[in-house]
Formats: sequence, C-alpha cells, structure tokens
Amino acid sequence: MKTRIPIALLALLIGGCAEDIPDDPTWHGEIEVLLTANCGRCHGETMAPGVPPDLRLDTYDDAFEFRERIRARAVTYEETGARQMPPDSYLSNDQKEILGIWIDNGAPLGPPE
Ligand code: HEC
Repeated sequence: MKTRIPIALLALLIGGCAEDIPDDPTWHGEIEVLLTANCGRCHGETMAPGVPPDLRLDTYDDAFEFRERIRARAVTYEETGARQMPPDSYLSNDQKEILGIWIDNGAPLGPPE
C-alpha cells in the first residue's frame, strides 16, 4: 500500500524549509513585525484584560527591557512549563528560533529599513 502525502501538507513542508533563519535578526529587520503581528493585539495600544499594564511589545524599548520574559513565554516554555504566548495560537518553530537568536544576541535595534 502506498502512503499518500496530502498536497497541502507537502506545500507546508516545502514552504517551511524555504524560510531562511537570519544569523543576526534585528528589531527593525524581523522582530518588530513578528511581535506586532503576533502579540500586539493584546500587548499594544489596547491591552487585553489581565496583561501586566507595562508589558507592551510593540515598542523597542519595552521589548528590549522584557526580552528575557519574552523568551520565557514565547520561546522556551516547552522546557520550563511556563504558560505559552500567544495563549490562543502558536508561533512557528522558525519564528521562535528567530526570536531566540535575537535575544541571545542582546536584542539589537538594527538600522532602520
Ligand atoms: C490573546 C492575547 C495575548 C496575545 C496574542 C499575547 N499575549 Fe502575552 N499575555 C496575555 C495575558 C492575558 C497575560 C497575563 C497572564 C499571564 O501572565 O499569563 C500575558 C502575559 C505575558 C507576559 C508576562 C509574563 C511575565 O513575565 O509576567 C509575557 C512576557 C508575554 N505575555 C509575552 C507575549 C508574547 C511574546 C506574545 C507574542 C508572541 C504574546 N504575549 C501574545 C495575553 C496575550
């Protein structure tokens, strides 16, 4: 019996491999877009109920200040058992990796685009 891989899954696998992981992600390059898109609706101008009031993730200064808390909740939660962020969706493995590298590198701002 042949194993048939659904086209959609195949497209997802190929698509997933195509995305490059940059060595030196920066706020202006990758991170602002990533955090604004995935976290901004709850940690932005409008704060979701229960979000610590100072925890905005749509500005560099706050994201820099809270970088280790971001790591704990959005990157390493599987190892530590911390509550995952975003609570109602997932970052892709690539997105987690990019975020982790950015924090490892000291969360650089980078040149404006
Ligand atoms: C649907 C709304 C929602 C989204 C989207 C969301 N968060 Fe949260 N976040 C919350 C709420 C509510 C809390 C407070 C409750 C808690 O700590 O679990 C919180 C708490 C946090 C904390 C505080 C933990 C601490 O140290 O006290 C961090 C850090 C965090 N979120 C990071 C993120 C990151 C990074 C993203 C995007 C990748 C994100 N969140 C997306 C709702 C959200």
